Amino acid sequence: MASTLTASRRCALVSSRRIFTLHGAHVAKELGGAGFRVTRILIPDGEGSKTLTHVARLYDHLARARMERQDPVFVLGGGTLGDAAGFAASTYLRGMPLVHIPTTLLAQVDSAIGGKTGVNLGRGKNLVGTIWQPAAVVCDTRMLETLSRRQLASGLAEVVKYACMARPALLRTVSRQLNAMLSAKPDVDAALVTACVRIKADVVSRDEREGDLRRILNFGHTFGHAVEKLSNYQLLHGEAVALGMLVALELSITAKRLNSEWVHSVYDCLRSIFPRLIFPEGRMSDLKRAMAHDKKVQSGKNAWIVLRRPGEPMAYEPESAEVRAAISRARANWKSTGK
Ligand SMILES: NC(=O)c1ccc[n+]([C@@H]2O[C@H](COP(=O)([O-])OP(=O)(O)OC[C@H]3O[C@@H](n4cnc5c(N)ncnc54)[C@H](O)[C@@H]3O)[C@@H](O)[C@H]2O)c1
Ligand SMILES: [Zn+2]
Repeated sequence: MASTLTASRRCALVSSRRIFTLHGAHVAKELGGAGFRVTRILIPDGEGSKTLTHVARLYDHLARARMERQDPVFVLGGGTLGDAAGFAASTYLRGMPLVHIPTTLLAQVDSAIGGKTGVNLGRGKNLVGTIWQPAAVVCDTRMLETLSRRQLASGLAEVVKYACMARPALLRTVSRQLNAMLSAKPDVDAALVTACVRIKADVVSRDEREGDLRRILNFGHTFGHAVEKLSNYQLLHGEAVALGMLVALELSITAKRLNSEWVHSVYDCLRSIFPRLIFPEGRMSDLKRAMAHDKKVQSGKNAWIVLRRPGEPMAYEPESAEVRAAISRARANWKSTGK
């Protein structure tokens, strides 16, 4: 890995104006100190900029800077920038070395790990992409100090996901550290990020191209993606996944006899992360249609990930009546935990 990165004396540092203003100078200085001549490239971030048009602009920047195939691309940003710039790095000159420096909690624990890159098309999210493993991922939790409470909470939903599907003990860690993490000067424990990275890296290294195993990372995402889309992306990804996990947990209770007391402790943890999150009233037929369009649907069926025990995920294909009932219970139970 080291030789991939040090084969060149030049590198591109891709970021957005906002993130570069907050953290770019420090990163550029470190890269300069390591002997790199740094070409700074600023592009927009956010879901709306994960498009082929923006990727084409990034290719143009790379071409104007006369980047060569061995020159590494460092991407400093959240998941949207990581996905789009990672896609450009994986395709420009048939692929350049890529280093992620994720700046959101979601990107540190999830999107920067595993090698998926991609952009959206008008017809759906992440429809075009590659699997391109980064040469390195550098997570510095101090960069999270400038993140909004809402973005931090959204990233924490993925941490709760890892707790549910792999390490239930993480739930207690999250609850214990929650006040510090969601304070005005957020303090996120690097050990918590490391624990999540290990879980994802372990799953992906055993199943890079999404056979059956990698799908367990989609716990909470079948319903989550549907409500995220139906909200026109007004719900952040993690907020939608939190609601999705509630539905998957309700299904797990009825279909797999998952311990309901433990499920209540997950409700409590999510409620303390999202004190004001409202379960949308969306029509069941719209939800069904949105779930049917999920990218992960195979032969027209949604394989849900449910838990047979805390930390033990499995695929399950419920009947639509079961899904309907689970959504109603999740909505009612979530309401009852609110103030
Ligand atoms: N590739 C994968 O495996 C994978 C996995 C999960 C999610 N994703 C993708 O990740 C994307 C979501 O990523 P995200 O949640 O990081 O969103 P994001 O990249 O849009 O970042 C959220 C907001 O935070 C701002 N920001 C970023 N870092 C900051 C910092 N340190 N301080 C202050 N503000 C900062 C950004 O400017 C942006 O406005 C989605 O497009 C999703 O599809 C990809
Ligand atoms: Zn997710």
